[in-house]
Amino acid sequence: MRLDGFLSKNGFGSRKSVKKLILNKRVKVNSEVILDVGYKIIDGDVITVDGNVIKDISNIVLMINKPEGYISSLIDERYPSVMNLIPDVYRKTLRLVGRLDYDTTGLLLITDNGILNQRLTSPKYHVSKTYEVKVNHLLKNELIEKFNQPNDIGKGEITKPAKLEIVDDYNALITITEGKYHEIKRLFGKYNYDVIKLNRISFGPLFLNDLPLGKYRELTKDEYIILLKEVNLNEEDFI
Ligand code: URA
Repeated sequence: MRLDGFLSKNGFGSRKSVKKLILNKRVKVNSEVILDVGYKIIDGDVITVDGNVIKDISNIVLMINKPEGYISSLIDERYPSVMNLIPDVYRKTLRLVGRLDYDTTGLLLITDNGILNQRLTSPKYHVSKTYEVKVNHLLKNELIEKFNQPNDIGKGEITKPAKLEIVDDYNALITITEGKYHEIKRLFGKYNYDVIKLNRISFGPLFLNDLPLGKYRELTKDEYIILLKEVNLNEEDFI
């Protein structure tokens, strides 16, 4: 990767501002001042700006277990942003992959990889997302069939078929492959149910498992590669 590209992807702004940094002799590779903006860096090189080591956080995906009361936006509004739950160093470059309602909990992905982000949220790639859902009155088996076909949920929006698995009287698992605004709440609402609790437990091939509420972790290399594959991408696409 080029030195200017590396710095740009790691929070130092546009190629133009990065060029300034380099020409002002503020950037070193393995303790040596580098003035060539196109200098090729390789794995293991230590890059510093003003003496501070720059950790490569490009092409990164974080998984967070979103608690209730946080919003899926980059800045605080009426409620705090979920970005408050990750360290500042990530904030400049990472973006949320889709949204969860402020009262929904569970798996939310955050990445700087724009192409991956766009594909994971595009209905064209049919990435499935599974949620635990609790409703306000008795779940009927006939809902399984009803959810498994397109449903008009208002405002001209028709859902793709959703898979409903009833767990007990009030609890179910629901899997959808798109992310329309309030999709699950509107789907249940159509059949006169209120959603009392919604918790996303999987996103494509990834599972929340035992990640504690409010905590985040970086995907492992294997998970990252599997996630790329899910939307027809390879690691080589981003070198
Ligand atoms: N569907 C909803 O209604 N809310 C969410 O947060 C996610 C899916």
